[in-house]
Amino acid sequence: MAPSQGGSAASANTWSNRFEQGLHPVIERFNASIGFDIALLDQDLDGSIAHARMLGRCGVISQADAAGLIEGLEAIRREAAEGSFCPTVADEDVHFAVERRLIALLGPLGKRLHTGRSRNDQVGTDLRLWLRQKIDAIDQALVRFERALLSQAERHSEVMIPGYTHLQRAQPICLAHHLLAYLEMAERDRSRLADVRRRVNICPLGAAALAGTPVPIDRRSTAAELGFETIYANSLDAVSDRDFAVEFMAAASLVLVHLSRLSEEVILWASEEFGFVQLSDRCATGSSLMPQKKNPDVPELVRGKSGRVFGHLIGLLTMIKGLPLAYNKDFQEDKEALFDGVRTVLDCLEAMAILFEEGLEFRPLRLEQAVASDFSNATDVADYLVARGVPFREAYQLVGGLVKSCLAEGILLRQLPLERWQQLHPAFAVDIFEAITPRQVVAARCSEGGTGFAQVAAQLSQMRSHLGT
Ligand code: ARG
Repeated sequence: MAPSQGGSAASANTWSNRFEQGLHPVIERFNASIGFDIALLDQDLDGSIAHARMLGRCGVISQADAAGLIEGLEAIRREAAEGSFCPTVADEDVHFAVERRLIALLGPLGKRLHTGRSRNDQVGTDLRLWLRQKIDAIDQALVRFERALLSQAERHSEVMIPGYTHLQRAQPICLAHHLLAYLEMAERDRSRLADVRRRVNICPLGAAALAGTPVPIDRRSTAAELGFETIYANSLDAVSDRDFAVEFMAAASLVLVHLSRLSEEVILWASEEFGFVQLSDRCATGSSLMPQKKNPDVPELVRGKSGRVFGHLIGLLTMIKGLPLAYNKDFQEDKEALFDGVRTVLDCLEAMAILFEEGLEFRPLRLEQAVASDFSNATDVADYLVARGVPFREAYQLVGGLVKSCLAEGILLRQLPLERWQQLHPAFAVDIFEAITPRQVVAARCSEGGTGFAQVAAQLSQMRSHLGT
């Protein structure tokens, strides 16, 4: 077969004169990242402007040339805002697209920009600038979600809900305590992301292709101008480190794990069987066939989307694990994973915030019935005896037998007459009835971090002052 003459002549021009032919059109498309890395345009312009300014400062190019380059780069930003900067697949990636346009705008001056740098350190810089900003946006989204949970918790500080282990009724708890547990998870997510951000915020620019450059550049000044904390110490590491992408995706995965667990609870709570929440029309959908249905699509989608983020984490690890130093084209694959991962986290956080702001209502009456109609106060009967000198294991056995006979008779503990209690153990007195009401059972758990109302009130006000309004 005759070699294809397709592809753009541009690709032959982009690279050095050692290339005679353009790329095969299919390979040109296969190779290009412009379809997605155009998302890095602003960061590419910021990085290039800092680089041009540094070249001028270091005397590598004249100050006038630096000013001209910066003007050209700002012109491209304006063109993009107006929609007239439209790179094609022939531009390969955002870095080439910008450079080409700069040369078209400025002529020979545009050819000076790429002095002392490579696309390898350039793409790493752009990606870190982009991710740093997104981490800040995710932090904001986490705070909005937390505030939505906190408002629900504050509105229900006196409401109780069954607490479960093994998804079996265990002990009644304060609903606010349950919601506060998710706030704790979100707070850990925020601190994990802040920790990742420190390692995202290291500048690779100036590592050039892999080995540094003979051009007398000043890496620290570009890093400072771009708001980086410091620079990579080793040029090979600088262009081939994607740990920050993996770390981010791991932190993002945990955000989704938490959202997915909460989603699962909301889905259960919204079922007829639980009936603990009612979904509002703003956040629920109907069935195309069954007129009575109201479906919890929002939490179901969040639960479902979590898999994408976990997938990106494994994808990134697998993409990196076999790569020899330094840059390899495989790294181009990091972008779509990060872009989709970030979008998914932001979308899910926003949807869950809206769900808790206006998409669901707890049903206090149902919750009250639920906590009053089971044996989740059995531990408190044992605790009652323990407080009166009975060894715990003995009390535990006695109450186990009592629950068994109540179940056989179809009654609850609170329905047993005093004589029955006293037959079981003489330590029982009339105050047993008060001791096993759900409110008393919850209130009694006043150990630090427990569900007792006073503990929960303290946690609520601490969280409120931490998050502000
Ligand atoms: N589009 C490339 C990427 O995303 C930019 C770096 C290309 N460098 C290279 N030596 N081919 O990774």
